[in-house]
Order: sequence, then structure tokens, then C-alpha cells
Amino acid sequence: MPLMSESEREFPPGFLWGAATAAHQIEGSPLADGAGPSIWTRFAHTPGMMHNGDTGDVACDHYRRWKDDVALMRELGLQAYRFSVSWSRILPAGTGAVNQKGLDFYSRLVDELLANDIEPLLTLYHWDLPAALDDRGGWLNRDSADWFAEYASVLYRALDGRVRKWVTLNEPWVITDGGYLHGALAPGHRSRYEAPIASHNLMRAHGAAVKAYRELGEHEIGLVVNIEPKHPATDSAEDAAAVRRAHAYMNEQYLHPALLGHYPAELKEIFGDAWPDWPAEDFELIKQKLDFVGINYYTRCVSKAAESYPLNTGVVRQPMGTYTETGWEVFPQGLTELLLWFKQTYGDLPVYITENGAAFFDPPTADTDPATGQRRVRDPLRTDYLRKHIGAIHDAIQAGVDVRGYMLWSLMDNLEWSLGYSKRFGMVHVNYTTQERTPKDSARWYSQVIASNGRSLTDPLPY
Ligand code: BGC
Repeated sequence: MPLMSESEREFPPGFLWGAATAAHQIEGSPLADGAGPSIWTRFAHTPGMMHNGDTGDVACDHYRRWKDDVALMRELGLQAYRFSVSWSRILPAGTGAVNQKGLDFYSRLVDELLANDIEPLLTLYHWDLPAALDDRGGWLNRDSADWFAEYASVLYRALDGRVRKWVTLNEPWVITDGGYLHGALAPGHRSRYEAPIASHNLMRAHGAAVKAYRELGEHEIGLVVNIEPKHPATDSAEDAAAVRRAHAYMNEQYLHPALLGHYPAELKEIFGDAWPDWPAEDFELIKQKLDFVGINYYTRCVSKAAESYPLNTGVVRQPMGTYTETGWEVFPQGLTELLLWFKQTYGDLPVYITENGAAFFDPPTADTDPATGQRRVRDPLRTDYLRKHIGAIHDAIQAGVDVRGYMLWSLMDNLEWSLGYSKRFGMVHVNYTTQERTPKDSARWYSQVIASNGRSLTDPLPY
């Protein structure tokens, strides 16, 4: 097949190219300067919860190296940086007294980004609930919507003059599936009864934070969800039903209430007596006008009917498929499919790809890059993954989906939650002993994609 011409892969003018991280995964120093502990500080210090006993105590030491990290972003040519704020740095007890030093950290970071022409995209909540609020029931407490709006308002007042893109929650599905249903993530609960309540309160909190933004903020706010196409393992009616359940549970559970004002009917079937009848007025709070939706995309899922708790679906590994180090199938065309589904289901809302990337085993090599004098980290599988996925976004744009930007996950290797430091998603390699950062080949490649606004996607890869 002939290569596409350069102009065919050019992205729309103003398309925003960047990279993403999250506070707990990179910052380290979780209790510095008056911060309170979060559920992740606690979880990581509970024996048996983390791979290898890893914690976020040091992580990438970004809390102290932030200035150098912004310089690195600049060197790579990033136009945007998506990061999250640690709630318990700002409000150590979750509500009430504001910790000025915590606020100053993010204020300095934002100033430094702007001084380097990098647009900040701020995520208010990327999973690190203040531990003090967990002691009050966490997301199971209906007051959590007010707590979240209070915290968000502190940040709107302090930063909206400089931050123009805000995200309420990152991946409510993972927060509840991992944190309240299966327990692999903080706070580590396992309850079919708790999961729907936590989900619903997260959505109420999202609504309350957007509402507060309309009073205090002047720019844009949205929600970030992780979604993936669910494909049937066979053409049986049972597998079709399994796909329907999996799709409702992951892809519609949050987008439906946020954008359409109701839940998909399948959730009642899935959760049975654990699915409450929600008060109608909750949906007025949850469904707020959004300026954009952020989509995190990693993989697809081939589903079949199977006994599992509580979804009764299983995942079928594809014998001919390619898989990443986290066991996720590489399936770029699924991103085009999802974006088209999103437009068809929810209309013409602007979309950002707020995360996309892959963990691969990429050991540093002995050779040096003559251009930079730095050691090379060859990661052809990541480059290939990124190239195909960015191409899939271009396909969706050509089919009429309003995609406005792409945030690669992740800027650098970091703490992969309960998998600790065992999985490397970064385009920049981090040596966790010395904290040395080394851009991998994929980072150099991505710099060219940014500089050419996508045209270099059709260039042959340099290996
Ligand atoms: C999360 C990130 C995580 C990444 C890779 C997303 O679910 O937002 O925090 O590191 O996927 O697992």
C-alpha cells in the first residue's frame, strides 16, 4: 500500500499536542509542606497492597524537580501539559483550612509552564482522596459532592486566571471498579453494594464542581473517562448480551448521566438489589453543560458470557493479537470506532484524547545519541503504538469528530498505582535510583510529530 502523502496526515490548525501525568504517580514528598495524607499514601503503606512494596514517597521526585521537568517538556516541544492536583496538599483535612504552601507549588508550576508556552490542563481529581475524607466515608458519603466543590472552588479562585482547561474527575470507572468493587486500588474495598454509591456520588461531585465553575471560572471544564470498544467473542446471543453489559458498565455508566441525564438500563440488571433508585433531582446536578470530554484510550476488550462478579462477562485473549506489558491488546482502530460512537451517541462535543500510551519493556542501551550525547533508550514498540493511535485519531477527525488535542500517557515513567514501578509508560525513561531522565526514541519521534503537526507521521521510522 502506498504511503499517504504528508498533507493527508496534517492535523487541524490549533490541535494541541501534549503529555499527561498525575500527582501521586510522579510528585513524591506526599506529606511535604503541611500536606495531609491521601488514601494512596495509606494504601501504599499497607502491607501486601503494592507490587514489590513500592510507594509514592519518592516517585519521580517531581515535587522538587518540577522546574527541570518543565524545561524537559519545553525541550521536547510540548504545547500542553496535563497534570493533576493533590487535594490533600491544598486542603490537608479535605475541607476547611487551606494550606498555602500546597497551593504555591501548583501556582509556581503553572507560571513556569506559561513562561515556557506550555498550556496547563489541570485535573482536579486523579484518585488521591484526602485520607481525612475517607475517614468520613469517602465517596460513599453524599457530602462528598460538597467537599469536592469546596476544594475545586479554592483552585478556581487561585488559578483560573492562568489555567484555561479544567478537568473534574479522571476515570470515575477506575475509581469505583478498582477502589470499591474489586479492591486493587485505594481505598481497596470489595463490595457490589458500595460501588454504585461511590459512582453516583462521584458523578454528583462532578456536577457540583462544574456548577461552581460556572460561578467562579471563565474558561473550559470537562470530564475525563476511560472507554474501550467491547467486541463479542462469538456471534452467540449470550456473548452479545455480555458485550451489552460490559459496554453499559464501562462506556456509558458515566457519560450517560453526565451528558444525557440518566443511567443505562443494564446497570440495574448487573447490580441487582445493589442498584438503588436514585433521587430524580440528582440528575439535574449531574448533567451540567460541559465544554469538552476527555477520552483516555488504551485498548479494546473482546467479551464473552462467563461467570464473573457482578458483570458475568469474561475477556477473551486474541491469539493473533499484540499485547503490551500490562496485557492490553494493541488495537488502534478501536479508537476511531469509539470516537465515531461518541459523536453518534452524544453529539458534537469537543473531545481531547487526554491519555493514550503503552507500557513496554524498554531497557536503556549502552549507545549514545550523537545529537544529544545522552544514552539512547530504544522503544520501537511504543513508537509504533503511538503512531498507529495518532493515525486513528486523524481518521476520526476526517470522519467529522471534533478532536482538539492529544495528551500522551505519560510524560515519564512513573508509579503505575498498585503495580508500583514495574510498568513503564513514559516517553522519558526515569532511573529511579538517580532520578536521571532520558528521553526515549519515542519522545524524539513525538517531538517531530508535534513540530510538523502530524505530517511526519507518514515518515518511515528510523529503525
Ligand atoms: C490512568 C493512569 C494510569 C494509566 C495506565 C489510566 O487508567 O489515568 O493514571 O497510569 O491509565 O494504566
